[in-house]
Formats: sequence, structure tokens, C-alpha cells
Amino acid sequence: MSSPANPDHDGDRAMPHVAIFDTTLRDGEQAPGISLDRKEKVEIAEQLARLGVDVIEGGFPITSEGDFEAVREIAAGVGTAEGAPTVAALARCSAGDIARAAEAVAPAHHPRIHVFLSTSEIHRTAMLHDASEDEIVNQAVEGVRQARGYVDDVEFSPQDATRTEHDFLLRVVEAAVDAGATVVNIPDTVGYAIPHDFGALIGEIVGRVGDRADVSVHCHDDLGLAVANSLEAVRNGARQVEVAVNGIGERAGNCALEEIVMALRTRQDLVGATTRVATPEIMRTARMVSDLTGYPIQYNKAVVGRNAFAHESGIHQHGVLADRLTYEIMRPEDVGVAGSQIVLGKHSGRHAFVLELERLGYDLDEAEVKRAFLRFKELADRKVEISDADLEAIVADEVATAEAELYEIAGIEVAGGTDEQPRATVRVRRTDDGSEVTQSEVGDGMVDAACAAIRRATGIDGRLTSFNVSAVTSGIDALGGVTVQVEVGDQRVTGRGVSTDIVEASARAFLNALNKSTRVTGRRAAATGATP
Ligand code: KIV
Ligand code: ZN
Repeated sequence: MSSPANPDHDGDRAMPHVAIFDTTLRDGEQAPGISLDRKEKVEIAEQLARLGVDVIEGGFPITSEGDFEAVREIAAGVGTAEGAPTVAALARCSAGDIARAAEAVAPAHHPRIHVFLSTSEIHRTAMLHDASEDEIVNQAVEGVRQARGYVDDVEFSPQDATRTEHDFLLRVVEAAVDAGATVVNIPDTVGYAIPHDFGALIGEIVGRVGDRADVSVHCHDDLGLAVANSLEAVRNGARQVEVAVNGIGERAGNCALEEIVMALRTRQDLVGATTRVATPEIMRTARMVSDLTGYPIQYNKAVVGRNAFAHESGIHQHGVLADRLTYEIMRPEDVGVAGSQIVLGKHSGRHAFVLELERLGYDLDEAEVKRAFLRFKELADRKVEISDADLEAIVADEVATAEAELYEIAGIEVAGGTDEQPRATVRVRRTDDGSEVTQSEVGDGMVDAACAAIRRATGIDGRLTSFNVSAVTSGIDALGGVTVQVEVGDQRVTGRGVSTDIVEASARAFLNALNKSTRVTGRRAAATGATP
């Protein structure tokens, strides 16, 4: 067995390669409360490309104009770069869905259409109007054929495969492959599978399909077994796993990208398969997805949780100081958890700042550097040392959200004590004409008062439906990140804000959401009924 933290990569060449199909932007975005706009999706896709995933499922184009545009931009952007990943789009087995998906992925060098259809008895009865088995097979075959009319690479998924009658599942899969599917994906849609049983099913399907198509798996985590099931599938011949960063997705989520990738890497000796993922990019990807979705990473989350490489007890600390392999099976730097050598602070200049951003992989244009640097100086006045996480938070907050921000906070003051009702006075500036409005409001708390003042100053009636605070960095002068969900009319928008002051971070987040509401062009349609 190779050393756990130093896998023997010379052996890689003989090992089969498992394709990483990332569905953060499609299934991941279906998690309750997540709503990524086009720009955010493109930003995540660019990071996924740096991470080295094989396939990016950008969305479900028929569901909204916004999803269509996002997939198309991803296809035309990272999808046409050198060594570009495949760009996939989801579609039901219906002509309209497939045509829309085809149009969205068309610019990519490697476009894929992913068609799906429910096959289990309960789905056939309750969702497909008692469709017969023959009707399902015909629809699947028709869907695959239509998709092949547009692209050479077509993936077929029998939804709720693990609760589908065994023989019928094999029949549908074979029919889809005969019709031209290049990948058959076996979804454990409701997270019902158990590893040994799922592994046996995948082994059987691999045997039936042979070299005609790749077998893929898509495991949900309802029983906390998504990674274990996916691993067992790989051991039984699956050559693609569908994953989401931080395991986000419907209900309990999907197989977590970082967990399956690091399991395959760390236990190559047992599983015998590799991926192309550049694992040092894992941490940054995890943070970016957490920032943009507003889904915090739990402290004890495997691989990317903040405790994943922290040792608390004296015995553990002693062991790690003597030799970190006593309690570490992965190297922190292999997942991108290395600390910065250069310390940035209030005396640092723009040059050092830009070099640090470059080291972190950010390539900002002039205007972006200018905004980020101003924000950095502002922060350096309040904080002694600026860490990598601080810089990433500044870039996420200042640059990623900078598109067409109509309003910005020009000043904020709060007052109130134990006997006094909290009051906030907020100065809001319009960026198009520079005009400023100052409003003062009271509320149940400082944050409530600040949001009320912003509402009055902008005249936008946003209702705060969810509020999440997290420490972006550590220490007493930590940067706090606030993510909010806001409803404006029938739109639901996410806003983010970062500051050392929580009320200010909240006000920034709330205003960011209101700004987005002024420029939302298309979002996932709430009631198309098309979401799988
Ligand atoms: O969980 C599921 O079945 C899906 C399919 C669309 C692959 O997400
Ligand atoms: Zn799914």
C-alpha cells in the first residue's frame, strides 16, 4: 500500500480514469434557497474548469431564459478554451426541451445533451399518467434519437433507477444505448441505494452495455451514502460519477465532488481508479460555491470543512507535531489548504496586492483591481493581517457582484441600547448619477433597522426571507459574511455582503439583493414543473 498522504502517482498510467461530471450548476442549484444568476454560474464554471472536471452540467435550459443564457455562455466560454471540458445541458425526453438544450450547448467544443425520463413504477404512475413500460421505452428511445440529431454525445438517465423494476431498468438502458446514448447514467434519485447492492447493479449494467457506452452514476445523499455508493459503482466499472461541490443538491444533496475525488486519490490502492482533478483547486472551489450559494460549509465537513485539518486534543497535536501522518491521511496542500507566506497589511502596496491575487489564481481587469484594492485598503485599516480567505472574500464581494450595481452604501450609522429601539441611518448612493439619499429607520434589531432604511432609500420593497451570517476569516477582527434571500414581488434573489461589521455586511448583502432584483432578466421558472 502506498503512503496515505503521498499516493504513488507513477502507478496512475495503468489505472482507469473516472470522469467527473459536475452538476453543481444544475442539481446543486436545485437545493432550496439557491438561485444563481448568469454571471455567478459562469464564474463557478470557470473555476470548475480550473479544477479540471471533465463535464460541466450548466443547467436545464428549458426552465428559464436565465438558465439558457448561462449554459450558452459557459459553452461559448470555458467550453471553447484549450482542453475544454464537455458542457452538458439537461432535457426531458421531449422535442422542445431537447431543441433548447441543443441550442444552449452548441458553441462548446464538446457539447452533450443529457436526457432523462422517470422509469420507476411510482414515478410512472404518479408523474407520467400511468404510462406503460412500452410507452416509457419508446419515449426514451425517441428522446435519445432526437438528441443524437443535434450532438454526438448523448447521456440518458432513467430517473429513480434504483426503485425501478430490475428487468425493466435493464430493458430501458439497453434500448437507450441501441438508440445511440453514449453514456447511460444510473441515478439513485432518492438516495435509496446501499453500497453492495448498488455496486452489484452497476456491475451487471456494465456487463450488459460493454464497450457501447460509458456507465455513469448519480447518487443522492438521503441516507448519507452518496459517496460510498459512487465509490462502489466505480469499483464495479462505472466510468463517470456525477457530483456537486460541497455535496449541494436536491434535499440532502448529491455525492460531494471533493469527497469522492479525495477518496479515489487517497485509496487508489483499493479502488484503482484516478481522476483528472487538480486537487489543490478544491478548497477555493468549495469556498466560491459556498459564497455564491449562501450555503455554509459545516465545520466538520470532510475535506473542506474548517476542522478537516485541525487537531484539538493534546495527544493528537503531539502526534501531528512529531509526524503529521499520525493523524492526517491527506496533505492539506493537496486540497489547497496551504497558508500564504506573504503577509498583506495596511502598508502593502498595489503591486504586492496584485501579485497575491495572481498567486490565488485571480486575473482581474484594471477596473476590478481598482475596486478590490480600495476595499482591501479599507479592510487593512480595521484588520492587522489580511489572509488568503480575506482576499477571496473581497474579490467575491467586490468584483463578482459588481455588475450593474445601481445602488451602493455610502455610509451607515447605528444607534440603540438595551432600553432604546435600534435605529439605523443609511446613506445610499445611485451609481448612475451620483445622487444620494439618507434615510433613518427603527427596527426590531440593528439589521432590521438598516434594511428598513435601505428599503425607503431605494424605494424597493424587498422582504428578507433568509439570513445567514458566517465568519469568513478567523480572529477577533474576522470578516463576517452575510448571505440573504430577499423576495421582491415574485422574484427571489440572493445577496451577499462582507465586512468586519455585521450590520454593515448585512446592509451590503440586502442592497446587493435589491440591486440584482433591478436587473434580473431570467431565472429558473418557479412553476414550469420541469425541475427533476
Ligand atoms: O436525481 C436525478 O435523478 C437527477 C436526474 C435528472 C439525473 O438529477
Ligand atoms: Zn439528482
